[in-house]
Amino acid sequence: MKDLFILGIETSCDETAVALVKNGKIVIDNFLYSQVKKHSEFGGVVPEIAARMHLEIIMPLIEKLLKKNNLQLRDIDAIAVTGEPGLIGALLIGVTVAKSLAYALNKPLITINHISAHLFAANLEYDIIYPVIGLIVSGGHTLIIKSDYYTEYSILGSTLDDAVGETFDKVAKMLDLGYPGGPKIEKYAEQGNACAINFPRPLIKENNYNFSFSGLKTAVLYYLNENKNYNINDVCASFQSAAFDVLLEKTFRAADEYNIKNIILGGGVAANKRLRCIFEEKSKKCEKKIFAPSMIYCLDNAAMVAGLAHYFLSANQPNDFDLAFNPTARMNVK
Ligand code: KG4
Ligand code: ZN
Repeated sequence: MKDLFILGIETSCDETAVALVKNGKIVIDNFLYSQVKKHSEFGGVVPEIAARMHLEIIMPLIEKLLKKNNLQLRDIDAIAVTGEPGLIGALLIGVTVAKSLAYALNKPLITINHISAHLFAANLEYDIIYPVIGLIVSGGHTLIIKSDYYTEYSILGSTLDDAVGETFDKVAKMLDLGYPGGPKIEKYAEQGNACAINFPRPLIKENNYNFSFSGLKTAVLYYLNENKNYNINDVCASFQSAAFDVLLEKTFRAADEYNIKNIILGGGVAANKRLRCIFEEKSKKCEKKIFAPSMIYCLDNAAMVAGLAHYFLSANQPNDFDLAFNPTARMNVK
C-alpha cells in the first residue's frame, strides 16, 4: 500500500505546531513554537495575542518543516487541522491555513477534535490494543473516555467546573509561581509532604466518572489565607496528591467496570511525573497497562493531529471545507 504523508496543524491555544506524520505512526518531524513566554507576562493566555502570533508563525513554520525534509507542498497527501475545541481566534488561523492549502493543492482536508488527538497521542510511540480507557487531563479538559478504536469514543465523565490543569494554574497563581503553573507545582511538590494538609478529594466516592476541582481550589485558597507561614512544598504536594487521587480512583474504576486492560493518559497534566508514577504503580497491582506519551506528545502538538487524521482519511472522511466553528465543542459522543 502507498505510504501516506499527512501535514498536521495545531493552533487551538498558545502553541503554534506543525508536524509531518507517515502512515499515522512515524513522526517525520514535529515543530512547535511555544508562545508561553509571551503569555506569562500576563499571567495566562491572552486569546488575541495567541491568534496574532499563530498568524505570524504558522506559514514560516510549515516552510521550515518542508525545507528541512526536502519536500514540497505537493508531496503531502492530506492536510489535518485541529477544528475544535479551543480559542476561536486561534483555531481560525490554523483552520484557514489548512483549508487554503488543501483547496489550492486539491488534497483532502481532515479536521480533528483536539481531545481525540490527545487521546490518540500515545499511539505515536506505543502499539496499543483497543478498547482503551483514556484519561485526558489538560488546561481546558478533564475527561474519562472509553474508546473502541482510534476514531470511535464515548465520554464516560468530565469535569463539572474547572479542568485539572486550570486548577494547577490557578493554585500556582495564588502561590505567585507564574504561568503555566503545572510544572512549577510539580517541582515544589517533589520536596513536600503530600500528607501534610488534608485537602478534599471532590466526588471521589460518587458513583460516576465526573470531576469537580473548584472546591479543591477554594480549599487551597482558604488554607493560604489562614496559614500565613505556610510551607509551599507541602501545599503543592498535598494539593497535587488530592487532585491525582481522584483521577487515579475514577480512571481505574472505569477500567474495572468495562473490563478494559489498557489505559491511555494524555494532555499537558499527563506530563507530570508523579501522576505517571502513581498510575504505573497501581497498574502493576491490578494487571492493567498504562500508556503515557513522552512530554512533547502530552502537551499540545501537531503530530497527534496528523497521526489521528490518517485513520479518518483511511475511512474516507470527505473534505471538510464547510467546517463550522464550535469552540466549546466536546467530542462527538458515540
Ligand atoms: O494539553 P495542554 O498543553 O493544553 C491544553 O489543551 O490545555 O495542557 C496545558 C496544561 C496547563 O494547565 C499546564 O499547567 C498543565 O497542562 N501542565 C501540567 C504539567 N505540565 C503542564 N500540570 C501538572 N504537571 C505538569 N508537569
Ligand atoms: Zn491540549
